[in-house]
Amino acid sequence: MTAHFSIQPPPIAKLGDTLAQVSTPALLIELDAFEHNIARMAEMAKLHGVALRPHAKAHKSSVIAQKQITAGAIGICCQKLSEAYPFAAAGISDIYISNEFIGPAKIAMAIELARHVKLSLCVDHIAQIEALGLAASAAGVMITVLVEVDIGQARCGVARMEGLATLVDCIAQHSALRFGGLQAFHGGIQHLATWDLRRTSAAASAEKVAAYAQFLSARGVACPVITGSGTGTAEFDVASGVFTEIQPGSYIFMDAHYGANEWNGSAMPRHSLFIATTIMSTAKDDLAVCDVGLKGVAIDSGLPILKPGQNDELKFVRANDEHGVLKIIDNAGAFSRDRLGEQVLLIPGHCDPTANLYDQYVCIRNDKVEDMWDIDARGLSQ
Ligand SMILES: Cc1ncc(COP(=O)(O)O)c(C=O)c1O
Repeated sequence: MTAHFSIQPPPIAKLGDTLAQVSTPALLIELDAFEHNIARMAEMAKLHGVALRPHAKAHKSSVIAQKQITAGAIGICCQKLSEAYPFAAAGISDIYISNEFIGPAKIAMAIELARHVKLSLCVDHIAQIEALGLAASAAGVMITVLVEVDIGQARCGVARMEGLATLVDCIAQHSALRFGGLQAFHGGIQHLATWDLRRTSAAASAEKVAAYAQFLSARGVACPVITGSGTGTAEFDVASGVFTEIQPGSYIFMDAHYGANEWNGSAMPRHSLFIATTIMSTAKDDLAVCDVGLKGVAIDSGLPILKPGQNDELKFVRANDEHGVLKIIDNAGAFSRDRLGEQVLLIPGHCDPTANLYDQYVCIRNDKVEDMWDIDARGLSQ
């Protein structure tokens, strides 16, 4: 007969622990840099009179969303309807789903969310509008709908003026729907390596959005909101005179992919997101193996890098499921066996999918655990 008993792994850290005591792999937030990033983006948006609606898909944590709102954000973006639930439950009252969805199960979630929060949604097809309009009317809720226009991303969004007009007219026919404006995000230009290339590309994108808005204006339709932008172009988009709202996400963390961009002065966010990992094997002379692999770090935008200034002679060269291989890069000789058990801090290549792999952020200040925040929308991707 099988014995049943209650057994659970211990917490990865406790408040007041030193960084060295944190059980690895763990996702860390360095609070000084994180707070700097939150404040800087809020100030920049405020200075230009543009609303800040940060993208919560980057962090998936209602604690962080509350901090962004306290700093001046008007609400948040989510990318998926289910992702919005923990934020709504935590009291975030203004949520925009900046992504298309289709089907009765998704409509049902939209209606349920609309009963609890000020909800706005994004469409690019008449079928999405018809189904939503009927459901909203039957439920007695009012939903704001934005139409996505393609400004170069070649993904979702209408690419022709007539297509935009058809959708706006369709929204107007539904008494439970209100046309909210335009969704215009160009992810492809966020990581252009030079500052000047991003600046000119952002200007070209803003011109495209402006043309859509002017087309609607000529038909007597106002766009109350023109929303888009990301961490890489926010500094240009706030000053464009076109965007009324920006939706950057990664700026709070500054992953290694964004760190490789050329930045100009104070617009550069600081690295605040790290993975604490431990060297768990030194059996070979020329490498060390740490305890984080694909299950703890996303590598779609490049391998993680080591935190500069620490272990600069090592390079992360390979991730397997639970192993990270670190190579000696300066031909300094054999890797010391004594370094077994040493903690190494990594900066993930891409923050969004990395955060989605963890249950909690371990928040660090002065090498001490100051707080632990749940990643409560983790895995909610429906
Ligand atoms: C629609 C939308 N808005 C905003 C963002 C935020 O971009 P970033 O995390 O690069 O700031 C993204 C990211 O992919 C996005 O898809």
